[in-house]
Amino acid sequence: MRRVSLAVPARRSEVSVEDAIAMRKSRRAFKRSALKKSDLSMLVWAARRVPSAGAIYPLELYLVIGAVEDIKPGVYHVMDDSTMELHRDGDLRTELAIACLRQMFIADAALSIVITAEYERTTRRYGERGIRYVYMEAGHVSQNIYLECEALGLATVAIGAFHDEEVANVLDIPEAHRPIYLMPVGVRAL
Ligand SMILES: Cc1cc2nc3c(=O)[nH]c(=O)nc-3n(C[C@H](O)[C@H](O)[C@H](O)COP(=O)(O)O)c2cc1C
Repeated sequence: MRRVSLAVPARRSEVSVEDAIAMRKSRRAFKRSALKKSDLSMLVWAARRVPSAGAIYPLELYLVIGAVEDIKPGVYHVMDDSTMELHRDGDLRTELAIACLRQMFIADAALSIVITAEYERTTRRYGERGIRYVYMEAGHVSQNIYLECEALGLATVAIGAFHDEEVANVLDIPEAHRPIYLMPVGVRAL
């Protein structure tokens, strides 16, 4: 079965938006424990609730999952809020960490959200200016993930330092989907 259904996100937490903004910081210490599947639903939902220039939506999200309850390790492609497809089998967290200039704490995170883009969707309409729009949109996704992690008491950090080709190879993604930003997410160790 390649398709995995996610639960409807609860969309509730005890943390206000203001508290999440105030508490947000980059957290790189992850417990090696599994993430709840319900937390994954919330993260995917938050990552997809973003503005997009011309409502074109050039971003594609992949999840490098190592330890999420009831989900086998692998690379998953997010199809919509509640569906993801297994794209590649196996726990690839260590390979991903190595591709990110050996930032090995990435291998401790339960999963990483890899933000990729099909630039042509946006540049077809906006030309070269579309490139900057795509980066702006990736920033929106990243910030939502940061804030949702604060709301759920999880840890995350934005990762921009990685070898593009190596990350693409680990994910085995189509040529058109270029990785631009990464967010390892896991249970807080500190
Ligand atoms: C575009 C960008 C790229 C980043 N890349 C990395 C990275 O590769 N590794 C890392 O540990 N932190 C990375 N960070 C996180 C920054 O180091 C962090 O945001 C900064 O130190 C400020 O700390 P704070 O997020 O806790 O406020 C990146 C942040 C941004 C915005």
